[in-house]
Amino acid sequence: MMALLSAYLLCFQAITVILCVVTCAGTYTDYCIIGAGPGGLQMGYFLQKSGREYVIFEKSNISGNFFVQYPRHRKLISINKRHTGKTNKEFNMRHDWNSLLSDDEDLRFTRYSKQMFPSADLYLDYLRDYQQKLGINVQFNTEISNIQQEPCESAPDGVIYSMSDQNDEIYKCGRLIVATGIAKPNIPNLEGMEYVDGYETMSMDPDDYEGQTVLILGRGNSAFETATHIYGATNLIHMVARSRVRLSWATHYVGDLRAVNNELLDTYQLKSLDGVLEASISEVRIVKTGNGKLILKINEQGSNNDDERSEDDFDNFAMREPYDRIIRCLGFEFDSSIFNVSVKISHPKGRAKKYPSIKYNYESADNLGMFVAGTASHSVDFRKSAGGFIHGFRYTAQALSRLLEWRYHGNKWPSITAPISQLLTHIIRRINEASGSYQMFSVLADVVILDSNDTYTYLEEFPLKLIDEMIEQSGHEAERIIVINLQYGPTFSGPGNDIFRLDRATGDPSEAHNSNFLHPCLYYYDRLPSEKEMLYKPKVEHLPKPSKLHHIVEDFLTSWDGPISHILPLRRYLENVLDTDMRSFFAEECMEIALTQSTLPYHCEKYYMNGEGFMGSKIRTASI
Ligand SMILES: *[C@@H]1O[C@H](CO)[C@@H](O)[C@H](O)[C@H]1NC(C)=O
Ligand SMILES: *[C@@H]1O[C@H](CO)[C@@H](O)[C@H](O)[C@H]1NC(C)=O
Ligand SMILES: *[C@@H]1O[C@H](CO)[C@@H](O)[C@H](O)[C@H]1NC(C)=O
Repeated sequence: MMALLSAYLLCFQAITVILCVVTCAGTYTDYCIIGAGPGGLQMGYFLQKSGREYVIFEKSNISGNFFVQYPRHRKLISINKRHTGKTNKEFNMRHDWNSLLSDDEDLRFTRYSKQMFPSADLYLDYLRDYQQKLGINVQFNTEISNIQQEPCESAPDGVIYSMSDQNDEIYKCGRLIVATGIAKPNIPNLEGMEYVDGYETMSMDPDDYEGQTVLILGRGNSAFETATHIYGATNLIHMVARSRVRLSWATHYVGDLRAVNNELLDTYQLKSLDGVLEASISEVRIVKTGNGKLILKINEQGSNNDDERSEDDFDNFAMREPYDRIIRCLGFEFDSSIFNVSVKISHPKGRAKKYPSIKYNYESADNLGMFVAGTASHSVDFRKSAGGFIHGFRYTAQALSRLLEWRYHGNKWPSITAPISQLLTHIIRRINEASGSYQMFSVLADVVILDSNDTYTYLEEFPLKLIDEMIEQSGHEAERIIVINLQYGPTFSGPGNDIFRLDRATGDPSEAHNSNFLHPCLYYYDRLPSEKEMLYKPKVEHLPKPSKLHHIVEDFLTSWDGPISHILPLRRYLENVLDTDMRSFFAEECMEIALTQSTLPYHCEKYYMNGEGFMGSKIRTASI
């Protein structure tokens, strides 16, 4: 009833009444989220916490329906690290890859299993509990389709979204958040594809592969997961994909091949018949022979498919022997079929084309007031950070909710303002415990705004790529800022790089700028970088050239709290930026300085100003 009422209120504010009647038929909600997977639930949690009117539409009867079927072999590959030796809850989230964010301590996935890589079935239990305990508003069994934009002059973006479900029920939404993930199997348009088994339906019974020769198309985690599941039963497995194997531990990208899945690399490199090779899948076709076996044929450039000359000319062609089975494990893509054709959904160029195009504020590149949350929002940090995975998008969902709060409700990005004397300890605390900027390194970063009155304003986990638009996007005035970013060395990671080389790490603070492993880096700007500077910065850099830059040397324990190696250089840097003395003193020391020097360090000044001082008001000019 309330929803209907607000719809009509919205209607009557509109200038054209006719337009409005058309516009506002159906149930109206301010925020509609499509999909009750981890991304949708996390977004629902933040909207609920902000007191917004929202609903999550879920086509199935449970939360996280994707996990009913996937991963097919049921083993999650996000780490379930229950112990870190520390009790700091924020720190511990740095190593908990499955939990969603909430204030409820019981809703930590680490409590659901003792296994490092638990079963996906447990994740369904977890998501159910998360939704039920927190009372996240999910409307189950609601399959949304035909999403369209409707002009509505009273809406903030001038449009609202309308959609219907399988019962032709109509819903209207002020803002739309798409959290449907990427769940549509990627099936290339190849000749002979009909002979190929898909990852989504392939048999899970190793007996079905007994004594078979198998080819797997694909080179990602699902391909290797499949190989590991059946290779004990097969004659051999070949895997083919366009590019070389990208090992997660070499690239620092969790979407690349994880060690937990890479058993087949052993049997390949130890010449135990299995093999991995590179070829462009788009240039092959699959042919069925008379005895039901499958052969891969390469389409020669410029010749027609009928010309069988090609690979037969080479009697050592790697895939010359027929296969009993070919399995497709080529990943998933975003499903645009829920949109009416009138709604444009474009895709980035290149490898990220499986995702919808979005801007750095997670808004659709094509549609105002439409946002993407969860794994489908990964195009902004594809192959760079963790935004495609639960431990990453739980923070980008939080960032999106904060951006929405300012844009639509006038609530500034949450911040803390404190005297400048506290800045050093504040930064040290954050670099040692913050989880969002750790998981989403080089995507979300803390920002310190240096106020003109000896205070600073601290914003946590702000999108790095929006730094130039920080005033419009956060609601905070800002001129002089320090951005605190966690980053890897620019040339360290990569698919072919020797990341175990002997000189891989440094412990020398004077060599901090050569740190390879994840380490904090401070960028001071005396004015906000411009859009142009953001655009034309060198590709390997995360931000445009700052006025002053400081690397904190990498640390084996990721504890940046060494008085000499970490804190002292940081303090000197801040003193240099602020042109002031940041040391902490005891009262007696302040007294002594006051008696012997013409200016007081910050710490003493604050001490005095707080009324805990020991001398009269002429303290600054005291001289002997
Ligand atoms: C959801 O639906 C499936 C059948 O599609 C059924 O087996 C299952 O029990 C239902 N679960 C709940 C929680 O309603
Ligand atoms: C798209 O919207 C138009 C206008 O409402 C409608 O006529 C058409 O049937 C819709 N297309 C689909 C696929 O639902
Ligand atoms: C200093 O400036 C900040 C930001 O403009 C403001 O929030 C804060 O209240 C000011 N503090 C004092 C003591 O004036």
